[in-house]
Amino acid sequence: MPVLPLVALLSSLLASTWAGSAPGAGIVGGKKVRRGEFPFLASIQHEGNHFCGGALIHRRFVLTAASCFRVRNPGITTVVLGVYDLRRRESSRQTFSVRSISENGYDPQQSLNDVLLLQLDREANLTSSVALVPLPAQNTTVEAGTRCQVAGWGLTQRSRFLSRFPRVVNVTVTPEEQCRPNNVCTGVLTRRGGICQGDGGTPLICNGLAHGVASFSLGPCGRGPDFFARVALFRDWIDSILNTPSDEPVRGL
Ligand SMILES: *[C@@H]1O[C@H](CO)[C@@H](O)[C@H](O)[C@H]1NC(C)=O
Ligand SMILES: *[C@@H]1O[C@H](CO)[C@@H](O)[C@H](O)[C@H]1NC(C)=O
Ligand SMILES: *[C@@H]1O[C@H](CO)[C@@H](O)[C@H](O)[C@H]1NC(C)=O
Repeated sequence: MPVLPLVALLSSLLASTWAGSAPGAGIVGGKKVRRGEFPFLASIQHEGNHFCGGALIHRRFVLTAASCFRVRNPGITTVVLGVYDLRRRESSRQTFSVRSISENGYDPQQSLNDVLLLQLDREANLTSSVALVPLPAQNTTVEAGTRCQVAGWGLTQRSRFLSRFPRVVNVTVTPEEQCRPNNVCTGVLTRRGGICQGDGGTPLICNGLAHGVASFSLGPCGRGPDFFARVALFRDWIDSILNTPSDEPVRGL
């Protein structure tokens, strides 16, 4: 079990405000995503400012990290799909408020079970810019050495600002002894690369499936390993929520 002194700090950073955006910034060590390349990416925003990522897994549901909402109220959050350029009002966008949230035993001290389902106020329209990402079956494992991708609007190592366009980095699943059973961990072997603030909640895509939800990093951005909630442990729970949409008013965590 790794020591996690940075966890609390990083989760609060992931959930704090990032003002403005700058060209050339983005996920550490990545490259700019092409328009429509990751149509399932959600930008989770407060008053028009992106603060976390997410993944559209059903026309009414976005999967993100519970840590995104430690200091934020989901009731005043907007979920924006079809985003490419954070600075423009794009016609591809669909904007939603959150109808309800569901969590499954999130433990902020240990950063365990860092998953959250946001039920949107209405169904998303599937377009060339908005699509669903499939999930792994319950308990599916992803082997060490598997090549995956993670994309988002988060910070680069040098910039204090969000990326204007989403960026993607190729990452490799680390051996189990550098991780924990409830996480999938990744690193970039040859250089710096990985998630940074503003990428919390974004999906880890392995073999076309969303195997992880970005939770936290050990150490500075891009030094890794990056820890993702292991989505396969939550598949049955996710299905149970998707099959019983709620009309409960939204409450905080
Ligand atoms: C989906 O498309 C319909 C028909 O064009 C439109 O009325 C509705 O507002 C759209 N929904 C969203 C979430 O944009
Ligand atoms: C997943 O693993 C848990 C714990 O090992 C086990 O109880 C459960 O039956 C498994 N579920 C499936 C669908 O394999
Ligand atoms: C990721 O790897 C693929 C081939 O495996 C390569 O085509 C692509 O350019 C790489 N992407 C990045 C962002 O390095």
